[in-house]
Formats: sequence, C-alpha cells, structure tokens
Amino acid sequence: MEDRAQDRSSRITRAFDELAPDYDHGHHDAVARALIDFMRPATSGAAADVACGSGAVAVALAAARDADASPVLAIDLSPAMIESGRERAEHAGVADRIEWRVSEAVPLPVPAASLESICCASSLHFLGAGALADWRRALRPGGQVGFTMPAASGFRAGGVFAELVADLPLPDSVDAASRIAIDAGFVSARAEALRLGRRTVFLVTAFMTR
Ligand SMILES: C[S@@+](CC[C@H](N)C(=O)[O-])C[C@H]1O[C@@H](n2cnc3c(N)ncnc32)[C@H](O)[C@@H]1O
Repeated sequence: MEDRAQDRSSRITRAFDELAPDYDHGHHDAVARALIDFMRPATSGAAADVACGSGAVAVALAAARDADASPVLAIDLSPAMIESGRERAEHAGVADRIEWRVSEAVPLPVPAASLESICCASSLHFLGAGALADWRRALRPGGQVGFTMPAASGFRAGGVFAELVADLPLPDSVDAASRIAIDAGFVSARAEALRLGRRTVFLVTAFMTR
C-alpha cells in the first residue's frame, strides 16, 4: 500500500515537473484569483496553499495578509512548480511571507486544529477525498476551506494526467460542488460557477463548526 502511494507521488512529481515550463498560467492564475476573491480568507492566522504549484494562491494570499501574519505554507510535490512559485513571489515582493515545502500534501505536515485557512486551487481532483478528511483534522474550529473543481462536463485530463486523477467524482452543478464540502463534514458551504472560455470551474468555500 505504501509502495503504491509512493509510486503515485513519484508519477505526480514527474508529470508536473515536466509540465512546469509549459504550465497554463492564464487559466490557472484566473482560477486562483477567483478563489481568493470568492473566499475572502482571514488576513491573519495560519494559512496553507495545498498543492500550490507555481503559487498563484500563495502569492495572492501572502500579499493580502496582515504585516505580522505568519508565512503562508505553500506545499507541492513538484520541485519545478515550487521553483516557479519562488520566482513569482520574488517578483511580487512577498518572498519572505511564504514558506515553500516540496512534499506530499496529504496528510498536511501540520498539527491538528492548527490552521485558520486552507486553499486549494485546481488540485483537489488529484488529491482525492483523503485530502478533505485531512483538512478537517488540520483546521481549527471555525476555520475556512476553499477549493476549486473542474466541472465534469468539458473536463478531460489528457495523457499521463488521466491516470493521476483521484477518486473524487467531478461536480456538474453548483449544488453538487457545495455537496463535496458538506459530505466531508464542513458547514456553511457556498459554491459558484466560474466560466473561463469553454471551461467551467466550481469555486467552493465552507467552514469547520465552532
Ligand atoms: C493543476 S496544478 C495546480 C497548481 C496550483 N494550485 C494552481 O492553482 O496553479 C496541480 C498541482 O497539484 C500538485 N499535486 C498533485 N497531487 C499532489 C499531492 N498528493 N501532494 C502535493 N502536491 C500534489 C501537482 O504537483 C501540481 O503542482
């Protein structure tokens, strides 16, 4: 079982390391910005950008946080994606407000009930349902989660990525998208459809009970 998980992590690392130079920043940055606008996460308290890739969320989060807030934890398996995130953070002037970590993100390397906000853009369909359960462990009471999911219709993972999509069914409506959070045990879930050209992405946010 451990070998299979290790093999999967290695395949994800390879796939995204190879993709990094051609990563579609236009689409993914728009999704990440929309997620932050939709969530309006707390400007203080510990925050994580899970499967951060090139850090679109981490950089936006870091820029919007209080000056004395702790650094955003930005975690991803792919060293190449993280490297591109570091460069982005340098350009944006927030390099000292982000702690980059090359690591498996499920489970998150944080104590239980330690995070105020968890953000995850364009990645939950690779992480799978186990991530949602782990976020409930990692968030403090009242903490907020925000994630995006591609709409089932129109989404087709190509090539090597097709084998890396996880066990979580993709939503086909706003209701189905918020149900992902509710079924995982979160409360006060909201979802919205974001249309980008021919692609639809659902933005979801929800909270831990207090
Ligand atoms: C489509 S990219 C999204 C990246 C970024 N969040 C964004 O909005 O551009 C998916 C990312 O998930 C990462 N990833 C997938 N599974 C992971 C896992 N189990 N642990 C850590 N990172 C993972 C990949 O390395 C990749 O960078």
